Amino acid sequence: MTVTQTQSTPVPLLLLGRGADPQSERGVECPGDLPAASDPDLVERARKARATLGDRVFVLGHHYQRDEVIQFADVTGDSFKLARDAAARPEAEYIVFCGVHFMAESADILTGGHQQVVLPDLAAGCSMADMARILQVEDAWTRLEEAGVAAGTVPITYMNSSADIKAFCGRNGGAVCTSSNARQALEWAFAQGEKVLFLPDQHLGRNTAVLQLGLSLDDCVVVDPHKPGFGVTDDELRAAKILLWKGHCSVHGRFTAESVADVRARIPGVNVLVHPECQHEVVLGADYVGSTEYIIKTIAAAPAGSAWAVGTELNLVKRLAAEHPDKTVVFLEKTVCFCATMNRIDLPHLVWALENLVEGRVVNRIEVDDDTAHWARVALDRMLALPGSGAVKA
Ligand code: 13P
Ligand code: SF4
Repeated sequence: MTVTQTQSTPVPLLLLGRGADPQSERGVECPGDLPAASDPDLVERARKARATLGDRVFVLGHHYQRDEVIQFADVTGDSFKLARDAAARPEAEYIVFCGVHFMAESADILTGGHQQVVLPDLAAGCSMADMARILQVEDAWTRLEEAGVAAGTVPITYMNSSADIKAFCGRNGGAVCTSSNARQALEWAFAQGEKVLFLPDQHLGRNTAVLQLGLSLDDCVVVDPHKPGFGVTDDELRAAKILLWKGHCSVHGRFTAESVADVRARIPGVNVLVHPECQHEVVLGADYVGSTEYIIKTIAAAPAGSAWAVGTELNLVKRLAAEHPDKTVVFLEKTVCFCATMNRIDLPHLVWALENLVEGRVVNRIEVDDDTAHWARVALDRMLALPGSGAVKA
């Protein structure tokens, strides 16, 4: 077996309010005056700035955003829908993305050169996206070349990854996928090659491969960037069909099979509905599995009086419970909390970003360099060309 020592890539931990790291999903710079969270005029200030900007600005809100922010979104959606919505608004000069860094990057890639994408707080990164750094992925590809499997491997990255990882997939014959079209992306990939390197969410990769493509758990190996040789032998790499990058969502990864059993005991007849970023055992124990859009549609279509335990980010579950008082909607796990980085976008940051735009200052612009944008776009366009989307388990 050939053992390649992985290059250790620094993951800087910045102090809140100091500095920014453009190479990472982290950054905390907020130049100028951020309104106080206690300012009673924040809602009015946001309304006024929004009205002054009119059609020049388009505000996108991911389903995991706080209510105080989502009320100002022109459209809400999952990462797939928001990427398409951004691309369909060429007349908006500014796209204010209330979501996380990788989503804003994708919006910048998919929108025109005359449009500027703003992320109200640069600290709104994604811990999962940070788990696959480009140097690590390039090292892993060298490892696959040494094992003689790279030529037959198609890299697929989940939307939740940095632009340079998407560009890596574009350059190497691969594509992007989201939780709504992971199945279609994997089917497409297996039509191009023998194996898939799935980045960076091992759970979405495993759940899709096993539950939707009918592969076995033995067809999957985990590629761990923190282990010598990526923790796999050449023989394991040759035998596997799916090479799962060892990344996960720090929110969804915390739901457990015990919480599924516990809620079934507490609420007889409850339907368990989870996101495919959850661990395989959780997904196996659930009744329904799908993206945030799928979760929303499923609860909306459910009969009055039905009970639902939902395993996804808490802002969305709370909103679903409030919007459907005729149904019982509970959070699957007591110990899981909000996505800390999604929650970084709050009303003070939104007001700060909008008021700066009113003054003609573009703050926290997210801009992807031309070469990265070109190849990431190749991978995104392959995704956008995939047919349909659907639930992982319904
Ligand atoms: P979707 O909205 O694409 O389902 O993704 C969930 C998520 O974790 C986004 O960060
Ligand atoms: Fe990333 Fe998970 Fe937060 Fe989504 S919910 S932004 S995948 S950490």
